Amino acid sequence: MTKNRYFIIGLVIFWAFILYSFSNHYTVYAAQRGKLYVVGMGPSGPDLTAPRALEIVEKADVLLCSPGMPKKFARFGKHIDPQKVAFNPWEELFGQEMKELRKTNYQEWEKKSKKQVKKVQDFVLQKIKEGKRVVMMDGGDPCIYGPSLNYLLQGFDDTLFEVIPGMSALNAAAAALKRSLTPDEVRFVLLTSPESLFGESWEKGDEILKDLSKYETTMILYMSLSSLNRVIELFKKHYPLDLPIAVVYYAGYPDIENVLKSKLGSIVEDIKKMNESWLGLVVIGKCVE
Ligand SMILES: C[S@@+](CC[C@H](N)C(=O)[O-])C[C@H]1O[C@@H](n2cnc3c(N)ncnc32)[C@H](O)[C@@H]1O
Repeated sequence: MTKNRYFIIGLVIFWAFILYSFSNHYTVYAAQRGKLYVVGMGPSGPDLTAPRALEIVEKADVLLCSPGMPKKFARFGKHIDPQKVAFNPWEELFGQEMKELRKTNYQEWEKKSKKQVKKVQDFVLQKIKEGKRVVMMDGGDPCIYGPSLNYLLQGFDDTLFEVIPGMSALNAAAAALKRSLTPDEVRFVLLTSPESLFGESWEKGDEILKDLSKYETTMILYMSLSSLNRVIELFKKHYPLDLPIAVVYYAGYPDIENVLKSKLGSIVEDIKKMNESWLGLVVIGKCVE
């Protein structure tokens, strides 16, 4: 009788333990499954996107991307399920309306931007809680002027997301130029943009170029085509007119990639022939000769 009682108590404890471990394991598993992935999609189509990134996009429950991303991939015969695309998280930050507002009423723009960032972060947190895999698709590499890390995920708990590296425009442009960006005589490679270098309203001035011009460097300018006239004016104050400059348009696109080689003295005139003010990378220095 006593033996039986111990046996039953033992059995109950055993099953309670099994059930407890199972439920714990299950909760942990469910909680871990929800995650945000910030994925670098590369400079052009899926053939220059890392297999790890493509697999994560394939397995995603929710996609956050610009409308251009599925279109770009469709061009290369790769389908991105439109049902999974929740919304374009950048529209309310970088759309035309916001650009205008930033110029006319900075405070209001700042308020709206913060609201949009919160909206996106709340959405992502909710999906993570539901155990979903959320994917933010950034062009190129997310860590180089990527809007997700630069803006949307400011202050976001970084234990909740993973970053998948992508090929940056820089790599595709260097390949198009068939040049090393780091030849022996170059002291360093400077990756920047007009806004980083000179300030949003050009308030930082061009003093920095006086120092930089003392060294042999390779300079890579992102997001610079629309303000290149002004950039070149500042460069002309510190560099010789025969400084080699190239613009690689649509780097990595097999059918439309275009390399324009020029010099400091002639680049402004030369780029007028190209009708593109966004998708081009400016490379400055001896390496493009
Ligand atoms: C917001 S930044 C994003 C950069 C991106 N995260 C990367 O790693 O390439 C956008 C700028 O990157 C450059 N860019 C992006 N893709 C490009 C491409 N395929 N060809 C040339 N330039 C490109 C352009 O200067 C463009 O204005």
